[in-house]
Amino acid sequence: MKQGMFRTKPVEHILGEAAEHQGGLKRVLTAVDLTAIGVGAIIGAGIFVLTGTAARDAAGPAIMLSYVFAGIGCILAALCYAEFATRLPISGSAYTYAYASVGEVFAWIIGWDLILEYTIGSSTVAVGWTHYLSEFLKGFGLAVPEFLLALHIGGLTINVAAALLVVLLTVLLCVGIKESSRFNALMVIIKLAVVLFVIFAGIPWVKPDNWNPFFPYGFGGIFQGAALIFFAYIGFDAVSTAAEEVKNPQRDLPIGIITSLVVCTLLYVAVSAVITGMVPYKLIDAGAPLAAAFGSVGNTLAQKLIGLGGFVGLTTVVLILLMSQPRIWFAMARDGLMFPWFSKVHPRFRTPFNASILTGVIAAVMAAAVPMSDLHHMVSIGTLFAFVVVSASVLIMRYKTEENPSESVFTVLKLALGLGLLCFGLAYDFSKSFSVFGFPVSMPEFLATSVLVPGIQIGKLIPVGVGAIIAAKPMIQLFLWKQVNVPSTFRCPWVPLIPVIAMGANMYMMAYLNVDAWLRLVGWLLFGLAIYAWYGVKHSKLAK
Ligand code: ALA
Repeated sequence: MKQGMFRTKPVEHILGEAAEHQGGLKRVLTAVDLTAIGVGAIIGAGIFVLTGTAARDAAGPAIMLSYVFAGIGCILAALCYAEFATRLPISGSAYTYAYASVGEVFAWIIGWDLILEYTIGSSTVAVGWTHYLSEFLKGFGLAVPEFLLALHIGGLTINVAAALLVVLLTVLLCVGIKESSRFNALMVIIKLAVVLFVIFAGIPWVKPDNWNPFFPYGFGGIFQGAALIFFAYIGFDAVSTAAEEVKNPQRDLPIGIITSLVVCTLLYVAVSAVITGMVPYKLIDAGAPLAAAFGSVGNTLAQKLIGLGGFVGLTTVVLILLMSQPRIWFAMARDGLMFPWFSKVHPRFRTPFNASILTGVIAAVMAAAVPMSDLHHMVSIGTLFAFVVVSASVLIMRYKTEENPSESVFTVLKLALGLGLLCFGLAYDFSKSFSVFGFPVSMPEFLATSVLVPGIQIGKLIPVGVGAIIAAKPMIQLFLWKQVNVPSTFRCPWVPLIPVIAMGANMYMMAYLNVDAWLRLVGWLLFGLAIYAWYGVKHSKLAK
């Protein structure tokens, strides 16, 4: 174990903590509960809302392939999550994995980053939920009172309904996970039924002509679309945050994570094929694309049912995201990196009570005050970053030797840097100008317009070439080295290939997100590092 910011937490410590002890979390969840948690967290605003804009403005009918690409990126990352989740079946997810493999400061960064995914994610979906609340009530000729949707106080517009939803679900979570997972299972069944309904009721309305042209935005549209709808897959990792409450984690966690993700990928591809087949891509609705597609063919009963599905579906997503955040904080506090207050378990309900309430308060405030569009990209970039770190951590863990533990860390970091540059070079359109802090910086004309072969701008060659050179050596090393830590529990197959592709695919989607999202991510992480330097580094239990 090293000293300082790069110290890692020994796996035996982590496993010791996981053993159930008096006052710990209850082990009650089964593989079916976990799959329901996964599907409950995954299917939500992504497919019900974002598919519309992504298909209309970014990918066209090729949105189906965007779903395939993003799904593959997530399934590969999920294999890495599954390996870690069974190795270290305790609360904390990616945070704990990074702590065991890369080092404390990275663990902190990733724990801090997950706030974007879970807390900001739950606010984002809560705001989306209010649109479906309106859509659902409209089906019965009712309307949500205006003050619930947009209460004007001073210069602010407050979304009261979104905040109320967060508060209600927080109360439910404080009372107990088994009760909430039953509630969740019921909601998931309704949501799945509605998604299947969209597919089967939509098929007769599909006109294959609508799939032509298939790539109206060119081949790059697939990836632009993938970066936009990646949000639809967020949540499968929530399954791993419940690890400490699973009866048989070694078997059930991989089943829960992979099954929920594969099911959702298949459903998403089918739904997007049906919607783009029913409606010409230019006319797809941006707000409620699934419901509107049925409205456009005159089937108002279906439209109402889908309104119900969206309303219920988004509720479960908010619930799961709210459930995951306290478990990360719980783990961080137990390690001394956060105030001990966060790790208090309620004596009667045996839930991480304090952390749940704080999550609820922050999420409710964000949901009340911030528009959905401002948050969506930030959640996606934060989550993609976590997936990259978990995939990298699998590599580090597998190759880390007792004698020279930092060698695998630096090799994988070099690989990540090279891959990152390569992805950026491939994704970036060099005919556009950069924007740095809002100021456009033009590309020299030579880089932007000269092409080597059609479609490949000279500018691309610089980052792609440099990235490939940086990545080549560590990549070859990983393939040649012997793996020293192969787990006896679930193993990610084909290491190092799968984690390397997972890193590349998720970075490639990150490269398609806008500069604002990048700047916010960097700002957020720097802010987190300052807190670590002020509190965590001194209070870390490992330091003592
Ligand atoms: N995947 C979740 C959704 O689409 C976050 O709402």
